[in-house]
Amino acid sequence: MGFPKNFLWGGATAANQLEGGIFEGGRGLANVDVCPAGKDRSAVIAGHKKMLEMDESHSYPAAEAVDFYHHFREDIQLFAEMGFKVYRLSIAWTRIFPNGNEKEPNEEGLRFYEDIFKECRKYQIEPLVTISHFDCPIYLIQKYGGWKSREMIRFYLHLCQVLFTRYRDYVTRWLTFNEINMILHAPFMGAGIYFEEGEAKEQVKYQAAHHELVASALAVKMAHEINPKNKVGCMFAAGSAYPYTCRPEDVWEALLTDQENYFFVDVQARGYYPSYAVKRLQKNGVFPAVEPGDADILRANTVDFISFSYYNSRCIAAPGGEQEEAEGNLFRSARNPYLKYSEWGWPIDPTGLRITLNQVYDRYQKPLFIVENGLGALDEPDENGYVQDDYRIGYLREHIRAMKEAVEEDGVELMGYTSWAPVDLISASTGEMKKRYGFIYVDKQEDGSGTLKRTRKKSFYWYQRVIETNGEEL
Ligand code: BG6
Repeated sequence: MGFPKNFLWGGATAANQLEGGIFEGGRGLANVDVCPAGKDRSAVIAGHKKMLEMDESHSYPAAEAVDFYHHFREDIQLFAEMGFKVYRLSIAWTRIFPNGNEKEPNEEGLRFYEDIFKECRKYQIEPLVTISHFDCPIYLIQKYGGWKSREMIRFYLHLCQVLFTRYRDYVTRWLTFNEINMILHAPFMGAGIYFEEGEAKEQVKYQAAHHELVASALAVKMAHEINPKNKVGCMFAAGSAYPYTCRPEDVWEALLTDQENYFFVDVQARGYYPSYAVKRLQKNGVFPAVEPGDADILRANTVDFISFSYYNSRCIAAPGGEQEEAEGNLFRSARNPYLKYSEWGWPIDPTGLRITLNQVYDRYQKPLFIVENGLGALDEPDENGYVQDDYRIGYLREHIRAMKEAVEEDGVELMGYTSWAPVDLISASTGEMKKRYGFIYVDKQEDGSGTLKRTRKKSFYWYQRVIETNGEEL
C-alpha cells in the first residue's frame, strides 16, 4: 500500500521565472521577458496591450529572478538534500535559439542545460524537461505573430530535434508545452499572441492551439524516433469545475468549462478533436484551418502520459448570476463558500485534487503526473532568514494526503509529484517576488534588493521527511 516504490518526488520550476541572466550566454529576448510586473501585466499577458520590448517605465523582476543562472549548483545540491528523485525544469528557447529561426543552436545555451543535467546526475536526480514553458522568441513574434502562424511548428521542431539529440544521454522524460490550455486565458504569455484591432480573438486562439497541438504530436513522434526510451507527456492547467448549485443550468455551464480545458488533452491523449469541440468551433465559425495530414499526425502520436498543474478547483455558475467572484491561476470563477482562500485569493481545495485525479484518470486511462501544486504566500523570515511556514506545510500535507487517497483507495496510476516550486521564484500571473512558493527562501525582495542568499525553510525539512518515508509521514 501507499505510493509505489519508484514514485517520483521532486519540485518544478520554469526558466523564465527562475534563471534571470536574460542578457547572458548569448540569450535572445522572449515574450516572457517583456511581461512587466505591475498594473499593465494582465493586459500584456492577455495580448490586449502590445509590448514587444522592455522599457524604462516598467519593471521586470524576472530579468534577474533568483539568479539560478549562477546559483544552479547550490540549488540542485539543496534539492538533493531534500531527497529529490526528479527535478522538473524548462528550457529557455532563446538560450538555444536567440531569435528562434537560426540554423545552428547557441552552444553556450546548450552547455548551460547540460551542466544542469550533469549536476542532477551527480545526485541521481532525474530531469523532467518542459520544452516550452510559455516561452516564444520575440523575433518570431515580430516576424510571424507567434503561434498564430503555422511556421512556428517548424521552429519548435528544430528546437526539439536539437534537445532530443544533444541530451539523449541525460533526459528521457519530456513535456511538450506547459499548461497548453493557457493559450485561451493568457495568449501573449502562453503563445506570443497579441491581438490587432478587430482581429477575431477566438479564431486566432484556436488556430494557434491547433498549431501547438500538431507541433506537440510531431514532437512525440520525433522523441520516440530519436530515443525509444523517451516518454513524452502533455501538460495542462487542471482543476475540476464544480457547478455553483445543483441547478441544471449551472451544472451544464460547469461541464462546458471542463470541456474547454479537456479539449487540449482530448486531442493530445486520444488523438482527435472531440465531437463537442468540432460542433462548437464550427458553430461559432472558429474551427481552425487544418492541413491534409494533420488528422493522421494527431492520431498516430498521442502522449505517453498526462501531466497537469493543480492549484484549485473552480466553481461555475450559468451566465447572468450575481455570485461573488474568486481568483485562481488566471481563471476567475465564482466564489466557493465552502473553501478557504490563499492570500492571493486562490481557493484551497485538497479534495478537489482527488476529484481531478479521478476525473482525468477515468477519462484517459493513462499514467498521470502532478507537475505543479503549491501555495503562494507572504513569508516573513526571522533575523537569521529562517521562515516558519506552517501554512505551506499544511497546504501541501492536505494535498499530498488527497493524492495518496486517489492512489491507494481509487487506484489512480500516478507517476510522481513535483511541487511548485522548490525554491522561491517570480510569480507568473503577477510578476511579483513576494508571492513565494519555495522550501528554500531566497533573499530577493520586491524592490529588487537582496543578497540572493538561500535559506532552508521549515517546509524544507518537512518535505525531506515526506520523501524519505515515501509519503508515509506527512
Ligand atoms: C502555473 C504556471 O500556472 O502556475 C507557473 O505553470 C506559475 O508558471 C504557477 O508560476 C503559479 O502561478 P503564479 O501566478 O502564482 O506564479
